[in-house]
Amino acid sequence: MDTLRIKDITLDFPGVRALDNVSMSFKTGEVHALVGANGAGKSSLFKTISGIYPHYRGKIYLGDKEIKAKSPHEMLKEGIYCIYQEVDTSLVPELTIAENLLLYEIVNTKKFNTFSWQTIYDRAKNILKDVGFEKELPNVKEKVANISVAQRQIIAIARALASNASFILFDEPTSSLSSKDVEKLKAIIRGLKEKDLGIVFVSHRLEEVFDISDRISVLRDGKYIGTKEKDKTSPEEIVSMMLGHSLEEQFPIAPHTSEDETVLKVEGLWYKNKVRDVSFELKRGEILGIYGLVGAGKTELLHLLYGNIKPDKGKIILKGKNVRFHIPKDAVKRGIFLIPEERRKQGLFLEKTIAFNIGIANLDRISKGIFVDKEREIELARTMKEELKIVASSVLQFVDFLSGGNQQKVVVGRWIQKKGDIYFFDEPTKGIDVGAKSEMYRIISELAKMGKSILFITPEIPEVMGLCDRVLVMFDGSIVAQMRKDEMDPKRLLAYATGGSKE
Ligand SMILES: Nc1ncnc2c1ncn2[C@@H]1O[C@H](COP(=O)(O)OP(=O)(O)OP(=O)(O)O)[C@@H](O)[C@H]1O
Ligand SMILES: [Mg+2]
Repeated sequence: MDTLRIKDITLDFPGVRALDNVSMSFKTGEVHALVGANGAGKSSLFKTISGIYPHYRGKIYLGDKEIKAKSPHEMLKEGIYCIYQEVDTSLVPELTIAENLLLYEIVNTKKFNTFSWQTIYDRAKNILKDVGFEKELPNVKEKVANISVAQRQIIAIARALASNASFILFDEPTSSLSSKDVEKLKAIIRGLKEKDLGIVFVSHRLEEVFDISDRISVLRDGKYIGTKEKDKTSPEEIVSMMLGHSLEEQFPIAPHTSEDETVLKVEGLWYKNKVRDVSFELKRGEILGIYGLVGAGKTELLHLLYGNIKPDKGKIILKGKNVRFHIPKDAVKRGIFLIPEERRKQGLFLEKTIAFNIGIANLDRISKGIFVDKEREIELARTMKEELKIVASSVLQFVDFLSGGNQQKVVVGRWIQKKGDIYFFDEPTKGIDVGAKSEMYRIISELAKMGKSILFITPEIPEVMGLCDRVLVMFDGSIVAQMRKDEMDPKRLLAYATGGSKE
């Protein structure tokens, strides 16, 4: 058994102490979960240990040997490999699976000066075979752009195994996976543990933390709070360690009633083979869930309704009138807002401040003539920062430097200021900590109470049952079931979502 021990690690950024004197240890042969609220310092800790932030203070030991985390490459040589929160950033989509697997070697050695592609493909196949993933990635000549997130993670894991890593750190590996792929990843992680690797992983989903980990450690505000044996603790205890207080209510739903008035009606909507003959009605003041697994067509459906893509067939009727949106701006003009799923790609100007990002969607409220009133912009952003508990030194901080979960809160914050009638939320709580999730549920139900209508996409059953008045279940592009709150049941929801039964 080997231990990876960190001692008195402090990591500063201008104006922020991301890690404050953190000491803890990880072992090979164990699965260790690292949890904490958004901005607690989890990703910073991983990036420090894996050599991305060499400006840390403190010590890192592997066994008795002190090692300096100077660069990811150096740390990999020591056997420590990190798969980052945005797994995409470590792979090159335009290259093939084989090239991505052998990237380090292709770049770092001269060995391949005389390479033939055949050698590369053969080596890649061998690596996959050695680590037992040849079935998951059958064709090594496929471009990474064309494969799923789950398969991309497998490439990253294979890379780590091929370079004899003894510790693998996973930063939110499951946040973009379908439940089937989550199960697969769990099995892979258990297999890695059997092979005596040390696994450390970050997750905001406590049920999976309790499912696969042996020990659980908690960070809060950059500080180490403690480590518990999984069998000797409870989700309630972990949540209160994370938040510093217990969570009163996970679904603090404001009482609201959906009215008879139909605000949005969809009839026989088709889009390629992604959305098939979808019809439904959304009522005033209603929170309507759309539940389905990854790839069921939920996101495509929203984008059809929002004017991002055009339906092949079908009608969209807004307050009794047929509408056709050519671009999202058309939808926005009619009071429809979309809070998108992929914050980094669609939602944010990363190189701008929080205030700018929230202000840009609310220009009518913060402009004087054609000029933006900076004071009002900041004021508005401050209100949102407080309401959503965005962790940042100020609203003038650049969004790029926020933690993953806090970036998502900025995306949400920009739209809920708006005076819209209909809100589309596409997995708004992905990667968000329990406290902030609960806050988000409160805000969404307050919108409903104000008479707004909400379409809420989620792949998580507890959210459907806790928040939605009614749910449409999608499978393979079609709506296969509808349930009112009193009819919802986890088993039935899952059965429909996996194509197990039709109504
Ligand atoms: N490169 C950076 N420059 C400036 N500040 C940073 C940088 N990286 C992280 N921070 C700050 O450090 C703190 C910890 O962020 P970190 O990303 O480690 O949080 P996290 O626990 O991973 O949160 P999440 O669950 O939202 O991913 C945050 O306040 C964040 O804004
Ligand atoms: Mg993070």
